[in-house]
Amino acid sequence: MISSSRFLKACRREPVDVTPVWFMRQAGRYMSEYRALRERYSLLDICRSPELALEVTLQPVRRIEVDAAILFSDLLLPLEPMGLPFDFIKGEGPQLERPISSPADIDNLKTFEPREALSHVLDAIRLIQTELAGRIPLIGFAGAPFTLASYAIEGGHSSNFAKTKALMYGHPDAWHRLCERLSTLVGDYMLAQIEAGVDVVQIFDSWVGALNTADYREFALPHTRRIFETIGARVPTIHFGTGTGAILEDLRDAGGDVIGVDWRTPMDVAWDRIGSDRAVQGNLDPTLLLGPTDRMFTQTDDILARVGRRPGHIFNLGHGILPSTPVEHVQMLAQYVHSASRRTNRT
Ligand code: CP3
Repeated sequence: MISSSRFLKACRREPVDVTPVWFMRQAGRYMSEYRALRERYSLLDICRSPELALEVTLQPVRRIEVDAAILFSDLLLPLEPMGLPFDFIKGEGPQLERPISSPADIDNLKTFEPREALSHVLDAIRLIQTELAGRIPLIGFAGAPFTLASYAIEGGHSSNFAKTKALMYGHPDAWHRLCERLSTLVGDYMLAQIEAGVDVVQIFDSWVGALNTADYREFALPHTRRIFETIGARVPTIHFGTGTGAILEDLRDAGGDVIGVDWRTPMDVAWDRIGSDRAVQGNLDPTLLLGPTDRMFTQTDDILARVGRRPGHIFNLGHGILPSTPVEHVQMLAQYVHSASRRTNRT
């Protein structure tokens, strides 16, 4: 039964034989088989084809001892059916054709039915679950309102989120209307992914660390909370962000059975703040996977020691695997987490 997998047990804070591990961006450019596929297909081609998304989802599962698969898709896919088309530009990342620049643009956004507009994602989920056949759980995902709104407004990646914050501070009513739209759509999209068969969902608020505590509570938390309320207790939920040292308790209050922790806060300090009624995920610095591996292992030992015997830890990186990471290091790390935690978890 998939519900007795060590990954889902850890989400529920039940004891496990060894610490479950998966990696954000476990599918991607650091793998030669992914790069080979990308020579023939664009990222959007892969996201829009259930067969290609299936193949890329399984690439890391075949090579690395991971305890969960993550649907291969992208956070930005819901933007297009809202009327915000975009493309991925080589070396630069995502680029929107016409980013939101005024309150009027927000009122002109479209709503959509994810079971129609994003049916290819749901088809991919069904294919992946047939292929995984209950061996490991499948994680579905979407973006949180702040992070999605930042792409919709900046038009791509930003280092200071100046346009996003200018709209947020200058037109708070319009900001809240935008985030209400996003939380309704994302909540419904998550329900559609759950109906299609994902076992867990992760909400990515990757850039929310750009907000101070008071602004997080005013401009982001209520909208993210609505998504978690919509999902309810259907499947375990993971709430992830980076640079969240000032808002860990608030991130927890917004929701999530598992709270993601980046590498900036030691795991025991973070978990004490989050509280023992939640599981945690993290928190190795992805840069340590570039080598030398002895430092990667030492830091992994440190994380496992800080967790100790508390049930409810999912090992992951503080953010995604970097494209220049040697695949062997990822393989070694997953094995290491399993073998090192077997010693600590033995009672
Ligand atoms: O293995 C997995 O983790 C699943 C696949 C996945 C992708 N995007 C595929 C992808 C996931 C979970 C995402 C989520 C995503 N997308 C996030 C949140 C996660 C995070 O890292 O914080 C964000 C912010 C995006 C938006 C996005 N997509 C950006 C900013 C970029 C360009 C940055 C880059 O690395 O080039 C992408 C492109 C993207 N999405 C890639 C992958 C594997 C890059 C690979 C490629 O171009 O082929």
